Amino acid sequence: MKAHQLYNISLLLPASLLFASCSSPSSGSQPSNPDDDPIVTAATQEDDGASGPHVNAVTEAPTGFDGLPNGNCSAAEFRATGLTFSEVEAFEDGMGPTFNNTSCISCHESPRGTAEAHDDNTNTKVFGGSGSQITELRAGHFNGISFVDHPGGSLINDRANDRSIQEHILSGNEVQTLRLTLSIAGDGFVEAINSNTLAAIAAAQPAAQRGTLIQVPVLEATGQTRAGRFGWKNQNSSLLSFAADAYLNEMGITNRLLKTENTSNGTNVQGGPFDGKADPTATGEDDAGDIDEFTTFMRCLKAPPRGPITAQVTTGQSTFNSIGCAVCHVGTITTSPAGTVINGGALTVSTALGDKNIHPFSDYLLHDVGTGDGIVQNGGQGTRNQVRTAPLWGMGARTRFMHDGASLTATAAIQRHGNQAATARNNFNALSAASQADVLVFLFSL
Ligand code: HEC
Ligand code: HEC
Repeated sequence: MKAHQLYNISLLLPASLLFASCSSPSSGSQPSNPDDDPIVTAATQEDDGASGPHVNAVTEAPTGFDGLPNGNCSAAEFRATGLTFSEVEAFEDGMGPTFNNTSCISCHESPRGTAEAHDDNTNTKVFGGSGSQITELRAGHFNGISFVDHPGGSLINDRANDRSIQEHILSGNEVQTLRLTLSIAGDGFVEAINSNTLAAIAAAQPAAQRGTLIQVPVLEATGQTRAGRFGWKNQNSSLLSFAADAYLNEMGITNRLLKTENTSNGTNVQGGPFDGKADPTATGEDDAGDIDEFTTFMRCLKAPPRGPITAQVTTGQSTFNSIGCAVCHVGTITTSPAGTVINGGALTVSTALGDKNIHPFSDYLLHDVGTGDGIVQNGGQGTRNQVRTAPLWGMGARTRFMHDGASLTATAAIQRHGNQAATARNNFNALSAASQADVLVFLFSL
């Protein structure tokens, strides 16, 4: 029996999956598919190569916000691709017509590294690569049965090249939410997690708290899907797909994987005075292949480092485990063995990223903890009110919490946990003040 056949629950694949999304596109050409139901709670995942056994020794993934790569590329390659990640795009580069910001790092900036990390004789900030306080806007309509995208897609771009094409939420789109920038530190390891490992985590969860695994398209492997793990809705499974999606939807730059410009509230505003570059068929506006450089940079980022692990942190972590937080916020996950073929055949796990233990404090599954924002991206209607378990690693580098960034303290975030997480929250509230403080100190050590 192959390792990935352990779970004998049938896999429901969507009849068609049209697109992946950071950011489901602001263009109206890609409607959501209410008939699709790509939800599986636990299933055999045929989308990745078998996940075990580990022939190589399993070791700890390197951690650090130190501006050094994780071993998956050279320091020179890391710096060069980091510079592309930091590059500010202009009108002539094709930015817009509508967009959210002008570089990847403008949102994924903190922590940006210390003087030492920038000591590369160029004095150029090339690091960062985590998150920020910046949010985005999404909207649509619930018709009583299904979520319907806002005209032009659920992402409402906050900026535009011209005032006349600025997007606004149109009336009748009462489902409205903010989405906080996610950290990308350590995501190369997350991409290397085998889909079967996520299925196994789901299968081991109590039925009432079981997470949902969804299958999402891998843009670079035409027609292939894989278990989603990136974005608040798990709307992507590959970092190259996410990079293509972000270049288009955050910055308005078309590329070889996503070639159609965003609209303004559904109206085509491509070209003309609103967009400074043509969209050649092969490459889109990304004629330099920046999406591959963003991807290399992200695959080379170390995992977030821990703060000092004091006695109080250790006590806090055992309390966190014993009150049921770790059911979803899973402390240790092992990546696929090096050599495993993932991403629909498009990527082979490297020795730097394979056979590694990571500590993300997430199951990378969708849950209904009562906070779901009503938006559907790639997961089908059943995921309307579900959100990915926020990975808690790097929490010490954040100020705002939950998908909308509306919780300004960790305590406030915990109090918003209901439904599948209600018992854990109640257990937290039943703790002594001192034990609650231990849990909070643990959280900020992450
Ligand atoms: C306007 C701010 C902004 C810009 C610019 C931006 N991002 Fe993001 N990024 C976000 C937000 C917000 C999310 C969470 C999106 C969601 O799931 O709703 C995110 C999520 C991600 C994720 C998923 C991380 C995870 O672990 O789930 C990746 C990868 C990513 N961005 C890469 C990029 C790349 C590459 C670029 C440049 C092409 C970029 N982003 C530009 C705001 C931004
Ligand atoms: C049933 C699964 C589940 C359980 C159990 C659970 N959580 Fe969560 N947690 C989530 C989900 C899902 C989110 C994201 C919700 C959102 O953004 O709307 C989250 C978000 C968080 C966040 C916000 C992190 C950030 O960076 O935004 C914190 C802090 C947190 N959880 C702590 C806890 C603690 C402490 C416990 C135990 C008392 C706990 N969680 C139990 C699923 C769970």
